[in-house]
Amino acid sequence: MLTGKRILLIVSGGIAAYKSLELIRRLRERGAAVRCILTKAGAEFVTPLSLSALTEDKVYGELFSLTDEAEMGHIQLSRDADLLVVAPASADILAKMAQGRADDLASTALLATDKAVLVAPAMNVRMWEHAATQANLALIEERGVLSVGPNEGDMACGEYGYGRMAEPLEILAAIEGALQAQSGKGPLEGLRALVTSGPTHEPIDPVRYIANRSSGRQGHAIAAALAQQGAETTLVSGPSQLPDPPGLKTLHVETAAEMLAACRSALPAEIAVCAAAVADWRAAVPAQQKIKKNGAPQSLDLAANPDILAALSEAGSARPSLVIGFAAETENIVAQAQEKLARKGCDWILANDVAPETGTFGGDHNQIHLIRAEGVETWPQMTKAEVATRLCREIASTLGRA
Ligand code: CTP
Repeated sequence: MLTGKRILLIVSGGIAAYKSLELIRRLRERGAAVRCILTKAGAEFVTPLSLSALTEDKVYGELFSLTDEAEMGHIQLSRDADLLVVAPASADILAKMAQGRADDLASTALLATDKAVLVAPAMNVRMWEHAATQANLALIEERGVLSVGPNEGDMACGEYGYGRMAEPLEILAAIEGALQAQSGKGPLEGLRALVTSGPTHEPIDPVRYIANRSSGRQGHAIAAALAQQGAETTLVSGPSQLPDPPGLKTLHVETAAEMLAACRSALPAEIAVCAAAVADWRAAVPAQQKIKKNGAPQSLDLAANPDILAALSEAGSARPSLVIGFAAETENIVAQAQEKLARKGCDWILANDVAPETGTFGGDHNQIHLIRAEGVETWPQMTKAEVATRLCREIASTLGRA
């Protein structure tokens, strides 16, 4: 996929710029040519010499450079690539992109290009969560810019939250996806896919609800990967902080009942992947008004929620050809997942260990056992984006599309 592709990598200011050096190596070892634009702020974090040594090419920095303009005009620079990647993408460069400013070489190239653009945001958590940054990203995504990350975790500034740049291999997967989507010829073209993701919220009263720790990251990554591989994809997402992935339809729901209804509305589909952590129970009778402390019941009556995976597996003539579920387990992972495969009537189960010490819930990585009637395949630990890519590969080969 990357062999012979030309990537224009824009490195803007941020501590995550060091990860871009790794990204260049990974791109080059897969046969891509990388050319860099380094912003003034980016040059505070990595040197032109490092970028130039790794790309084996000149590094561009100045907008009004006589030699650069003589060798290659900034317009041509931006169009000579197959894909523009901004990594790290600072809050400032996202704002410039949203406004269409062109006051340095990076922003000018981004405005002048006729190629797809992928951004990997990286910034302090408060800057990331600021309404201005979220609005800027939403605006550029609406215009077709693709994004990957940021991830949640400890930040160089000592705070914790979303804002860490996606890991180089996650960016690499997004680059491959973007190039694939650009080619318009994904292996899953002509197929329809349905993916559930995130937790559900089951109301107890107007202010309280039953929920779980799912972030939606694995499900969203799978939906994005299926869409990138050419499937017409519907993502049914419970409440999640993640942005809607580009290139697919997202239906937002709160409860398990709403999730089931949304899934039914998305049928027929050939592929269904249930990655949502659906609440197994809901409050039997949610209170219409806030339950006051002094009148609180001693116990909460629960009612069982519909099992969406089982319902899709039993959907008769509307049953997708391939129904795939997850098994979130904390012990006896494979045995419990095998039992779940039989009980739910689905075709495959991706079993993962969600014990707190694994950091799977909300984390970047996952370790999967793929359980099928014919046997168990254990995958190495990988990022959730890589799990999504590998799952798509398995789906494509099973459906004769590899
Ligand atoms: N699932 C679903 N609807 C539910 C519960 C689970 O669609 N009401 C799906 C999940 O999306 C996942 C699979 O079923 O694909 C297994 O979820 P998991 O929480 O591991 O299993 P449970 O069915 O809750 O079983 P148990 O509580 O016994 O582990």
